[in-house]
Amino acid sequence: MNYIVVENYEQLSRKAANLIAAVVVTKPNCVLGLATGSSPLGTYAELIKKCEAGDVDFSAVTSVNLDEYVGLDGTNDQSYRYFMDTNLFSKVNIDHSKTHVPNGCAADLAAEGARYDELIRSLGGIDLQLLGIGLDGHIGFNEPDDCFTAATHEVELDPSTIEANARFFEKKEDVPTSAITMGMMSIMQAKKVLLIANGAKKKEILEKSLFGPITPAVPASILQLHPDLTVIFSEN
Ligand code: GLP
Repeated sequence: MNYIVVENYEQLSRKAANLIAAVVVTKPNCVLGLATGSSPLGTYAELIKKCEAGDVDFSAVTSVNLDEYVGLDGTNDQSYRYFMDTNLFSKVNIDHSKTHVPNGCAADLAAEGARYDELIRSLGGIDLQLLGIGLDGHIGFNEPDDCFTAATHEVELDPSTIEANARFFEKKEDVPTSAITMGMMSIMQAKKVLLIANGAKKKEILEKSLFGPITPAVPASILQLHPDLTVIFSEN
């Protein structure tokens, strides 16, 4: 594991963007696994700057996002599709038809999960997967459980996750109670994994995930088994 501790969020964002840019530069038609949440916002802002400067070209890139809320479609400003369109895709030269987010409005979510896994497989897997981490150790929306789930699947959100994500909604009751998330198989099969975390409140769960026992009770702990994991942490 490559564990990088930086001084502040700006440094974290620049380093993460540099690592992602390096993948795009060396493999212009790469598959990027992308994440939502507040953690990657700075990274995306840096990538937009690099694209505007002509240093990174996203025109041949394909992206696959980790997750989506069940019941929110892309026009809903709380959906992860909307988040990605607003914070990255509309601001770089990526081909929108090559950006993928699980469909949280699919009538059959099990079939949607299977379709999404087949899509990732048909793309040749993920070259770099960007991850944030939830306060309960979730990655994507893989919540603490008795077992790790391999496939893209529907998940009931943990009350603590609903509480944590309520900050993005008008009121807590508006937060969907379930989501569809990439499972551990596609994440662990990514050639590189880049986990970013910032803030003192993430320190304990990050250390538990990286240095504690590998257990589905702490979903991110599975990353200890990944052969090419980079973690960037800023306490501030
Ligand atoms: C959400 C997302 C995760 C993300 C997590 C942490 O629940 N599904 O992918 O890592 O929140 O969010 P933040 O970066 O805002 O702390």
